[in-house]
Amino acid sequence: MDKLVVEGGKRLAGNVTISGAKNSCLPILAATLLSEDRSVIRNCPDLRDISTMIKILKNLGVRVQQDGSTITVEPGNYKKYTASYELVSTMRASVCLLGPLLAKQRKAEVSFPGGCVIGPRPIDLHLKGMKALGADLKVERGYIIADAKNLKGGNVYLGGHFGSSVLATGNVMMAATLAKGTTVIENAACEPEVIDLACFLIKMGARISGHATHRIVVEGVKKLHGAEHSIIPDRIEAGTYIIAAAITKGDITLKNMELDHLVAVTDKLMESGLEIKKTISGVRARYVKKLKPLDIITLPYPGFPTDLQAQFMSLMTVTDGISVITEKIYPERFIHISELGRMGADIQLEGPNAIVKGMKSLSGAPVMASDLRASAALVLAGLVAKGRTDVHRIYHLDRGYENIEAKLTKLGAKVWREKEK
Ligand code: EPZ
Repeated sequence: MDKLVVEGGKRLAGNVTISGAKNSCLPILAATLLSEDRSVIRNCPDLRDISTMIKILKNLGVRVQQDGSTITVEPGNYKKYTASYELVSTMRASVCLLGPLLAKQRKAEVSFPGGCVIGPRPIDLHLKGMKALGADLKVERGYIIADAKNLKGGNVYLGGHFGSSVLATGNVMMAATLAKGTTVIENAACEPEVIDLACFLIKMGARISGHATHRIVVEGVKKLHGAEHSIIPDRIEAGTYIIAAAITKGDITLKNMELDHLVAVTDKLMESGLEIKKTISGVRARYVKKLKPLDIITLPYPGFPTDLQAQFMSLMTVTDGISVITEKIYPERFIHISELGRMGADIQLEGPNAIVKGMKSLSGAPVMASDLRASAALVLAGLVAKGRTDVHRIYHLDRGYENIEAKLTKLGAKVWREKEK
């Protein structure tokens, strides 16, 4: 197992290129299963979660080739329909195989994804959507077993206690492409990753409208064909580097980023005092004056993303004043608080609200990464802390940040990977 060591105190400056979005690439790779033809997906990030999805596709009997950031998938006449526990248990997003397998094979067995360190992550909305399309569902041996001889369009409301669901919307949309008749998804998620998936499905011949709104309509077709597609830039990786510019009082230009996908975050950071501007070479984030503390509430898109909550909290720990961070998507996604506390941060948790009192400085410490975004938050804190921070269990970070130490090093950070003793 590896750890990441960060020597704090360096100001980050220069250019960083943002990779393709993991959360767009995963369902799009799953969607290739809807056709027998070859699909070519470009701008794929080189990440552990993507390798897991490739393994799952190969296990299903599908040919997959990876050449740099291009992944070519040739499903052919694959016969299998099971995504096994061994692989699904390492990546919860594998649940997005349910829709394509059910639509193409009319049968699917996907290991029940189970719990997660960021709190309960139910899949009731996925199941509700598949049922609305006529699937028979049961849970046996830890697997969701779905059968749908006559998949047919239906109306489904996908709102949960915490709003819309990204992967449930994607799953139902994928299943509906090959169902007979029309499907209407109400309270659909409209995250950029859902739109990217819809765009790929349309290239495959699917008839979808209303993506980017909360009402998606899918007219089922008999067959889909292969397609070529380039994955959108990762808005969460981009947000993480913008926060890196803020926390190190730096000046970073982000290449290959879509500013429109991150408005809720850039708006807040500019309110705090960070300068963010579109230039000919990319998006420039520059520290120009002392930052002000801010309150944020995480919400479904276009609200402030939960996947940047932890990183934003790291910034607020060293921003003079009091800020309140309210988590409305995963109310238990706060494990990073105790680790930030080990670095001297002053954070009180009151229900879904974290009250952060900005400190003059943090002090480097050994800390434990608990999930992907919490790991990024600890690295950001390490960049500004006095002395050395050892971020253990860095495998979480490798699930979602391509070449993070190389990208940070190029920006001037002192950061390296070490084997755990
Ligand atoms: C996606 O997960 C992302 N993962 C997550 O990113 C992200 O945090 C999340 O969306 C929210 O933006 C991928 O896209 C692979 P949801 P997803 O269903 O789709 C509740 C990261 O760090 N809910 O939109 O699984 C759920 O508990 C990861 O990259 C139900 O109640 O999330 C949550 O409160 C972590 N029933 C809310 O909806 C359901 O059936 C939104 O979750 C499904 C979800």
